[in-house]
Amino acid sequence: MIVNARRGYPDEVSRPRGGLGPEWWREGVLYQVYPRSYQDSNGDGIGDLRGITQRLDHLAGRDDSLGIDGIWISPFFPSPMADFGYDVADYTDVDPRFGTLADFDELLAQAHARGIRIIVDLVPNHTSDQHPWFAESRSSRTNPKRDWYVWADPKPDGSPPNAWRSVFNRVKKEAWTFDATTGQYYLHPFLPQQPDLNWWNPEVRKAFEGILRFWLDRGADGFRIDVAHKTVKPRDIGAGLFGENPRGTRDFTPPADEPELHALLRTWRKLLNEYDDRMTVGECVVLDPDRLVDFYGADNDELHLAFNFHFLRAPWGAQSFRDRTETFERVIPNGAWPDYTLSNHDNPRAVSRYAGGDISRGRRRGRLAAMMLLTLRGTPFIYYGEEIGMADAPIPAKRIVDVAGRDPERTPMQWDASPAAGFTTGDPWLPVNPETATINVEAQRRDPSSMFSLYRRLIAERRASPALRRGSYRTLPAPNDVFAYARELDGERRVVLLNFADRAVPVPIAKLGIPPDGLRIDASTEPPGGHERIGKTIELAPDEGVLLDLDGS
Ligand code: GLC
Ligand code: CA
Repeated sequence: MIVNARRGYPDEVSRPRGGLGPEWWREGVLYQVYPRSYQDSNGDGIGDLRGITQRLDHLAGRDDSLGIDGIWISPFFPSPMADFGYDVADYTDVDPRFGTLADFDELLAQAHARGIRIIVDLVPNHTSDQHPWFAESRSSRTNPKRDWYVWADPKPDGSPPNAWRSVFNRVKKEAWTFDATTGQYYLHPFLPQQPDLNWWNPEVRKAFEGILRFWLDRGADGFRIDVAHKTVKPRDIGAGLFGENPRGTRDFTPPADEPELHALLRTWRKLLNEYDDRMTVGECVVLDPDRLVDFYGADNDELHLAFNFHFLRAPWGAQSFRDRTETFERVIPNGAWPDYTLSNHDNPRAVSRYAGGDISRGRRRGRLAAMMLLTLRGTPFIYYGEEIGMADAPIPAKRIVDVAGRDPERTPMQWDASPAAGFTTGDPWLPVNPETATINVEAQRRDPSSMFSLYRRLIAERRASPALRRGSYRTLPAPNDVFAYARELDGERRVVLLNFADRAVPVPIAKLGIPPDGLRIDASTEPPGGHERIGKTIELAPDEGVLLDLDGS
């Protein structure tokens, strides 16, 4: 039997080198770049692809880099920017504000030379209303692309086809907009400028297979899939549904169990399997854990990773994070791999969420959360700036630009103490957080007790430890406020103790059920020095986390 060789990377230049092997997306640490805000290379105040290339040393390749293995870059395609790039007008080009395809190739080559993989953001649920496909579709009811979008007749009284609501309800409540030219409504669960594609149409599927191949053939390592959980709508709205949606709910809640959606994800998995080492991570805003893990596929034949957003909504507390971790560990199918994240471009930043009105408390807690993120069993995703404890920035009313209040978590990366934070020589598109005077990469790089030094340290620990990278997970019995677990592989055992209380907590070693001999504190969220406190108990300081090694276990 002849087995077809997998498609490799297009050429030497675009082949990832160094770094992790085919399992990079399981064993690596991944990082999200919001390209508008990372680094501006030409002084127009908007971050761009060349800017990312200039900053790669921050991420990996040098001894003092953060040490991550891959970056997901939010959309950089041509776009009218009604939703800052999540409204795509051309899926196979680069918006001039972000650069050119040649800049993408250069970024990919430079990243790969440092062992950094590049994950491209695919937006299949909707296009921009400025996409030529939509211009055609709306032009007449008989246009060949009419059926590429979701069109439906008004109710007899002229109102929208059903009661589905838009997610961006500050802008518009209904998920439907009437288009006078052809006398029908089109569906847009986000902005009216983001019409939904009709995924029941085979030509739409074919077009997207071409788009996937376009980026894979260029050497991209994978895709983050926007709105992966809602892409295929129930068939009957396309046919013109009157009344409420079939599930009887009023909100826009397409089912995550739509079988056709899972069938679509399987075809993409097959397509990716033709290539070496590529992956998908889907945005799956699914609150029920049992349904979330459906997106890995019954046979691990759908998404490589389904984003687990449960930490983003978790109240602060040991039990809260312990429960969410155990639940995910319990429901995830055999062979599938968990992932965790604390922040992204749609949610308040971790240290602000945990602050409860006191940002220094938020930052102490942020250190504990970082240790959890980087030691659990599952791929960690770090949102840019989290590695220095960036907080949500205050945005004066006249500078608000996002339709859903997400500007505070999207402000320029804080590289140094200068007024524009080293992000741009021009006027930044969003205000720089004034905290950059003290919270910035340059200052933290030199400070061994900084958040950056902690992230670097923990990522290095993870890289050096097979048990942390791919070992098993086991909850350990511990006092109420302490989330304790072991990560084990082939005789290597690492133990993590996380104190979620704002007071010191002694942890009796006997209670943990691990052998007391050869126990050593490897890393702590407390500033370095003076932590050899192991006797019969381990004294955890308020908000402290420790990573322990068990010699000879
Ligand atoms: C996803 C993106 C978000 C965007 C929305 C519509 O939720 O993460 O930023 O606004 O999709 O594309
Ligand atoms: Ca720029």
